[in-house]
Amino acid sequence: MHPEETAARYDRIAKWWQTQHQDSLYGIAQLERAIKFTSKKHLAIDLGCGSSGRFLKILSEHGFQVEALDISEKMIDLAKQLHPDITFYREDICCWTPSKSYSLIVAWDSTFHLPLDMQEPVTKKLCDALEPGGVLIFTCGGGARQCEVSGAFQGQEFEYSTLGVNAFLKILSEHHCTCLHLEYDQYPENHVYIIAQKTR
Ligand SMILES: C[S@@+](CC[C@H](N)C(=O)[O-])C[C@H]1O[C@@H](n2cnc3c(N)ncnc32)[C@H](O)[C@@H]1O
Repeated sequence: MHPEETAARYDRIAKWWQTQHQDSLYGIAQLERAIKFTSKKHLAIDLGCGSSGRFLKILSEHGFQVEALDISEKMIDLAKQLHPDITFYREDICCWTPSKSYSLIVAWDSTFHLPLDMQEPVTKKLCDALEPGGVLIFTCGGGARQCEVSGAFQGQEFEYSTLGVNAFLKILSEHHCTCLHLEYDQYPENHVYIIAQKTR
């Protein structure tokens, strides 16, 4: 599915997403784990931030200067209402050209929507956008092989793709990032989160 079509579907459920996730603890312990690995707390970005802003709040509380990006205009508009002081970008992660280096990059349940052929270039881009010692946390589908699946929630059909865990680890290592934590946090769901750190 083209990212703009994914955006149109998230636009339709943006308000529901905000109500559902604004006070939710989903992903928060995992984010706190990633934050513990950061040595510097300069700039952080939440990629595919959604409308709840729950990660933005935690990042600000930890002293990061926070930015957020999402392809869905409605998600961004709603998140902005909750966090007027944060810099938001309405952009497709695939087209985004990072102009800064980040102490922390968060891509929680967002890059798993990218078309399969964008997984590798985007993962490389995120590694390259980290400052030395910077930390990346992202979620992906697990397993050994690449695959594409679809599924519906809130009446919208979404597509997901993964390279498989080994391929993600290879990209991280080739781009000077070391995996610090990998967990099937919703087992038996095929949902994995990875924390990696830029070595230089
Ligand atoms: C499952 S929601 C997760 C939102 C947020 N990370 C959270 O956990 O509450 C997926 C988000 O990723 C965004 N997204 C999907 N594909 C994207 C892309 N290509 N570029 C930027 N954002 C994207 C969607 O618009 C949506 O807000």
